[in-house]
Amino acid sequence: MTAQLNPRGDVAVLVPAAGAGVRLGPGRPKALRLLGGEPLLVHAVRRLAAAASVHTVVVAAPAGELDAVRELLAPVAPVTVVPGGAERQASVAAALAAVPAGPEIVLVHDAARALTPPDLVESVAAAVRAGHDAVIPVLPVVDTIKEVGAGELVLGTVDRAALRAVQTPQGFRRAVLATAHAAATDPLTDDAGLVEKLGVPVVCVPGSEYALKITRPFDLALAEHLLATGA
Ligand code: CTP
Ligand code: MG
Repeated sequence: MTAQLNPRGDVAVLVPAAGAGVRLGPGRPKALRLLGGEPLLVHAVRRLAAAASVHTVVVAAPAGELDAVRELLAPVAPVTVVPGGAERQASVAAALAAVPAGPEIVLVHDAARALTPPDLVESVAAAVRAGHDAVIPVLPVVDTIKEVGAGELVLGTVDRAALRAVQTPQGFRRAVLATAHAAATDPLTDDAGLVEKLGVPVVCVPGSEYALKITRPFDLALAEHLLATGA
């Protein structure tokens, strides 16, 4: 069944989905690879559309797959599909440019985090609504982290207590994200990094294990298990 978005919602979600998925191995662009028989992008958009505050979803798709992606998503939710760029940052910028007037909160969410629960979308949006200009969901780092130099020689041990692994959706006051992208020079892998460069405070909220980024074949196998057990 096609989900309805909330016409009174205050949240637009940008979904960069134009990556190749090189680390997943040969095959179609990653957002179109199957998880439980459906593309990762379908799982991701279905969960976004289930979040109560979401007014708009804009997907940045691989340039050669625009029609395929539109067809795929039509029965899932009413989304806008635009061509992505060569870097994730360019894909996000393209999606941002397609957000209509209205939503004042913009979330940026990787299609590769296909099993992200709607509750996480709402908790990030709520933190922006509460007055934070930039919000990221994070998990504590569980492994010991070493800094390593030439020849795999250990240079030192980083204090894990001060580290966080960062997920998406990342949430922003719309004007802050627009300014950060307009000012961007080097491509970064996350949007909060652009906002940090503006000197705008970025605040952390608890992330979710289910928001794992499907990057390598192991992650896809884990996601298959999570889906089969109710994610
Ligand atoms: N992405 C994008 N446009 C790009 C590169 C990445 O929209 N030019 C998106 C991906 O589709 C993904 C998200 O950004 O949803 C996170 O990127 P990543 O996990 O690195 O995905 P890929 O770039 O597809 O994977 P890889 O780096 O292994 O090729
Ligand atoms: Mg990539």
